[in-house]
Amino acid sequence: MSVLEILTYPDKFLREPTKPVEDIDSRIQKIIDDMAETMYDAPGAGLAAIQAGYDNSIIVYDGLPGEVKQSLQVLLNPKIIETEGEIISENEGCLSVPDLRADVKRPALVLVEGFDREGKPLRFEVEGHLAVVLQHEIDHLNGILFIEHISALKRELYKRSIKKKLKRK
Ligand code: NI
Repeated sequence: MSVLEILTYPDKFLREPTKPVEDIDSRIQKIIDDMAETMYDAPGAGLAAIQAGYDNSIIVYDGLPGEVKQSLQVLLNPKIIETEGEIISENEGCLSVPDLRADVKRPALVLVEGFDREGKPLRFEVEGHLAVVLQHEIDHLNGILFIEHISALKRELYKRSIKKKLKRK
């Protein structure tokens, strides 16, 4: 397994929509293993393939928040089928959006469908922290970063700070 480089904003690849996984071959299994290694190395609560430079519809996350390497979860071609309620995801952050934390309003409960790494169909409901993680990672697969859920003012300030940083390099 290897730790992959994580793409960061404003990398245009992060805006690309991803392709559904059709064959779970050894290439896909290797991507999943490397994504898990990368997520735990970062460390992050979840990772989408697009962040590691692959345009496949794959996410990994840890099912037990706060406990490292306890419960690796893998979802292929995940989709949010239904949402309910509303919560504020406090201090949300993203490995691809360095140096920014912000509160994000999101549905409190989501019904998710997808496949595990063996191709078995999955359908389950999650709420709270895990619901936020799943929404965040599934957004990545649709080319959406969490800064699109914050106020236009905050987003502008962040974009400016990144531009300044890039100029300095
Ligand atoms: Ni992210």
